Amino acid sequence: MNFTNKVAVVTGAGSGIGQASAFGFASREAVVAVLDRDRESGEATAAHIRQQGGTASFFAVDVSVPNEVKSAVEEIVSRFVGIDILAHCAGIQSYGNAVSTTEEGWRKTLAVDLDGAFLVSKYVLPTMKKRGGGSIVITGSTQSLVAHRNSAAYVTSKHAIVGLVRSIALDFAANNIRANCVLPGAIDTPMLRWGAARDPNPERVIEACHKLALLGRMGTPEEVANMIVFLSSDLASYVTGATVVVDGGQLVPCGGTAFQLIGTGAEPE
Ligand SMILES: NC(=O)c1ccc[n+]([C@@H]2O[C@H](COP(=O)([O-])OP(=O)(O)OC[C@H]3O[C@@H](n4cnc5c(N)ncnc54)[C@H](O)[C@@H]3O)[C@@H](O)[C@H]2O)c1
Repeated sequence: MNFTNKVAVVTGAGSGIGQASAFGFASREAVVAVLDRDRESGEATAAHIRQQGGTASFFAVDVSVPNEVKSAVEEIVSRFVGIDILAHCAGIQSYGNAVSTTEEGWRKTLAVDLDGAFLVSKYVLPTMKKRGGGSIVITGSTQSLVAHRNSAAYVTSKHAIVGLVRSIALDFAANNIRANCVLPGAIDTPMLRWGAARDPNPERVIEACHKLALLGRMGTPEEVANMIVFLSSDLASYVTGATVVVDGGQLVPCGGTAFQLIGTGAEPE
């Protein structure tokens, strides 16, 4: 996988999966546009890439604000000529069920997690069309397919992203643009640690996250980034409209591992 002469836009690149993806593209020769609403961490990602001999610039963008996304895309195109790859990793977690979620909280989560995916795609797609093709990878979640309790707004936006990705794949295939969705399981990032810290016993949550996967551990941001980079590369030239789970086998056991151990009627080995 090599991205010489390719321009990759990575959102949420200041932390976690986005940062690992930015490093993954840069180490394979792509020019990387680092987008994040957090200036300090975004600048740090871009600076690290440059220190390693790569090419990267930081753009301060809140992906839920249309004008900020539009201006950043215009600036990237004027500086780097075009965009070949979009890896959208910016996102926020939120908690609450369909009653306890405030209207403001609902709108905020959907604004970042769903509108953000729409807005970056909306403004990047015309530049890809002009360039003759490209690849979009949007970060969903295993919660694009199943639900966690007390996460109504997050689960809703992650489910909706799959529809957006399939629509883009369908509508822009004729323009040589592929669109795919990566669905991570429990990945050890600041977002996951933030969620765990809200529990009275954060270590118990971390342990549960490790046990969630068949592989017996949480994933690393790099393990998700590897899939994002692969899907963005020519090695994935026949993959579009796909939802690719990167979860260490979390979704495999029907009813979860606890049910498989005690509830299926089969003798445990
Ligand atoms: N960590 C997990 O277990 C996990 C699991 C499934 C899906 N995901 C998804 O992966 C993506 C990345 O998550 P992560 O775990 O790396 O989180 P993270 O918090 O480590 O990184 C997210 C980055 O997005 C940025 N961001 C947040 N809101 C933004 C906005 N409005 N505009 C621009 N940037 C913004 C943050 O500043 C941060 O740098 C998210 O979409 C998340 O929902 C994560």
